Amino acid sequence: MKLWKGRFSKQASSSSDAFNASIGFDQRLYEEDITGSIAHAKMLGRQGIITEEESEQIIHALEEIREDIEAGKVEFTIESEDIHMNIETILTERIGQTGKKLHTARSRNDQVALDIRMYLKKETDAIDQLLSDLLGTLQELAGEHQETVMPGYTHLQHAQPVTLAYHLLAYYQMFARDRERFADGKKRIDRLPLGSGALAGTTYDTDRRFLAEELGFAEVLPNAMDAVADRDFALEFIDCCCITMMHLSRFCEELILWSSSEFGFIEMDDAYATGSSIMPQKKNPDMAELIRGKSGRVFGDMMALLAVCKGLPLAYNKDLQEDKEPVFDAADTVKASLGIFREMIASMKVNTDTMDKAAKTGYMNATDAADYLVAKGIPFRDCHEIIGKMVLYAIQKGVALEELSMEEFKSFSDAFGEDIYDAISIKSCISAKKSEGSTSFERVGQQLSAIKGQK
Ligand code: ARG
Repeated sequence: MKLWKGRFSKQASSSSDAFNASIGFDQRLYEEDITGSIAHAKMLGRQGIITEEESEQIIHALEEIREDIEAGKVEFTIESEDIHMNIETILTERIGQTGKKLHTARSRNDQVALDIRMYLKKETDAIDQLLSDLLGTLQELAGEHQETVMPGYTHLQHAQPVTLAYHLLAYYQMFARDRERFADGKKRIDRLPLGSGALAGTTYDTDRRFLAEELGFAEVLPNAMDAVADRDFALEFIDCCCITMMHLSRFCEELILWSSSEFGFIEMDDAYATGSSIMPQKKNPDMAELIRGKSGRVFGDMMALLAVCKGLPLAYNKDLQEDKEPVFDAADTVKASLGIFREMIASMKVNTDTMDKAAKTGYMNATDAADYLVAKGIPFRDCHEIIGKMVLYAIQKGVALEELSMEEFKSFSDAFGEDIYDAISIKSCISAKKSEGSTSFERVGQQLSAIKGQK
């Protein structure tokens, strides 16, 4: 049934009904919609806009509808267009005239804005929990790998040795900031649009503060036109999803590289890898690849909603119905990705020996050899030059710096003494780092304790 049929002399064509309807995807907002309607009915009763009995009757029927939806007993129709009108239609079918009073002092415009805000508050909490679980796993892994040495890269070239704990804690920081970002975005989601009416407010003596309290909103949106017209809160939410997906994607890219035979740093657990339909030997890191791929679709959700909003005159336009699918998709994708990612890294096998071996190649102690000469009083730029020449010599000879003889060292600079060998061992290169936030075993230990303090 069309709740707006009064002004029309002809029925909508079945094609426009199908095109116009959002029930196919917005039915997942049924709970938020009913909770919002119950609060609205309560407020109408308290304010004497409808009678207390009417209010109670509506609330009771809405609760039953909710149960019936959950029990799979309710069939939604395309004719009723969206979740809001489907529920109102069912309500009126069940309690007659009184059901028709629910929509007093309300529009679908503030109703839908309310539903999405309530949905996003819930999703933000769910994502926060998943991020917190991931941080816990990273913290555990880092704790286990404080002594695991590996190459640190820039330009994907061996740069300086680091520990795996240090590398993992870099991601820990990124995901911790993601959590902060979601929490900050939630502050702006947590503002009540209900009571705004279509765009200009309503003529009834409503109580929006009561609604905010009843529905657990921190604030009431101060301008009704803004409340129904903007979706910046949803954009911010997807933006947070994008950044989290980008972080996951980078991490996945590394895990994919690390599980290649060229690196061999890790091996995915069989439960989180797949085989090939043709090549019997294959074990592919599909979960990591899919997360990397899904980051692209979430970035697409962001662009989709930005493009929907960019040319809209105030206030509500039906274009805004297109907000829901990108929002749902971003939330679903980030939740699924965070979940599987955590399981995947918790179960992967780390080949510490291979990492250790790799850390000994690529002349990653060259900077430390230069620092050794600096300590002997030679200006850094000259040291850089001397060690550069030594590296070239060692490359030609096919050996590591620490494999050169004392004589060879001396031939590049008199300042070298026996203690050079200890100074450029991988362990020393790591422990010698002093600065706050560095990879030294001690500083990483401090990072780990600081994290424990945060929890
Ligand atoms: N299904 C609509 C949406 O998702 C609900 C709001 C419709 N409002 C209107 N004035 N047609 O945006």
